Amino acid sequence: MNEQELIDTAKKLVAADKGLLAMDESNPTCNKRFAKLGIPQTVEARRAYRELIVTTPGLGEFISGAILYDETIRQQKKDGTPFVKIFGDAGIIPGIKVDTGAKDMASHPGEKITEGLDGLRDRLKEYFQLGARFAKWRAVISAGEGSPSRACIEANAHALARYAALCQEAGLVPIVEPEVLMDGDHTLERCFDVSEEVLGTVFTQLYTQRVMLEGIILKPNMVLPGLTCPKQEGVDEVADATVKCLLRSVPAAVPGIAFLSGGQSAELASARLNAMNVRFKSRLPWPLAFSFARAIQQPALEIWKGDEANVHAAQQALYHRARCNRAARRGGYSIAMEKT
Ligand code: 13P
Repeated sequence: MNEQELIDTAKKLVAADKGLLAMDESNPTCNKRFAKLGIPQTVEARRAYRELIVTTPGLGEFISGAILYDETIRQQKKDGTPFVKIFGDAGIIPGIKVDTGAKDMASHPGEKITEGLDGLRDRLKEYFQLGARFAKWRAVISAGEGSPSRACIEANAHALARYAALCQEAGLVPIVEPEVLMDGDHTLERCFDVSEEVLGTVFTQLYTQRVMLEGIILKPNMVLPGLTCPKQEGVDEVADATVKCLLRSVPAAVPGIAFLSGGQSAELASARLNAMNVRFKSRLPWPLAFSFARAIQQPALEIWKGDEANVHAAQQALYHRARCNRAARRGGYSIAMEKT
């Protein structure tokens, strides 16, 4: 492991008020999103959609790194140029999702454990050769009635830490993503408590597995009420709760925090990130950035709909969301930006 290279990569991922573009949907997830919009669920449709993203002019002004999926990191533009090369030329660091998905956890109905540790060392070696310099692993935790269990939190935190150690050994910065899901009617306070417990456990495990904290990026959920909770707090309350939870749980050595969007609307995700930076930026030990998939891509996907004629308009929508999120990092986003 070259510690300095890991530290440098991690810093680059959150430098210059940029953020990460997550385009690492597995084939089943990508197909599900395509099916909803009547887009054919084929390798070629997925490739064409990824080409649209990768070739969006100017994306590198706002995006520091892109998280790819196994199929995508091997794909090329129609003219044969590898996606990884196009990103490299745009100054965007390629990353790779390496977990193999969240599976039902034995003896814990309704809970999930993320798999993918078997054979990971060899897969990481190959991804490094293909050009990846960071990786991602997502654990999913539900905040339901009677969940999460300690077993679910500990098993997922342990897997995240073992993944992170293997990534650093292979020269890849691990994005550590423990996601407390928005699904359900739990309150913001409940999300706070669960997120605090999960993050505390994750950092204990990272310490135990000797992960170098200066060489990771944390990708957490924002602290939010469940989607069907009758009480939906405002943007500032969400910002306050999220920052309070992170300050309690995340060591100052971590070089950056890049939020997932988790099913929030694109505008709300930008507004909430903006509020955190407006209220706290100068007082935090780490930068607060973004690593959104749906909150950056969804408007573009809905415009594209699988039709070549819509590529330009879809790229404009993608560029716009990336620009809004960089503004949110600076505390300069406002709803007025949505009209430009
Ligand atoms: P969302 O921003 O859509 O929640 O996706 C996050 C993610 O983990 C994809 O890498």
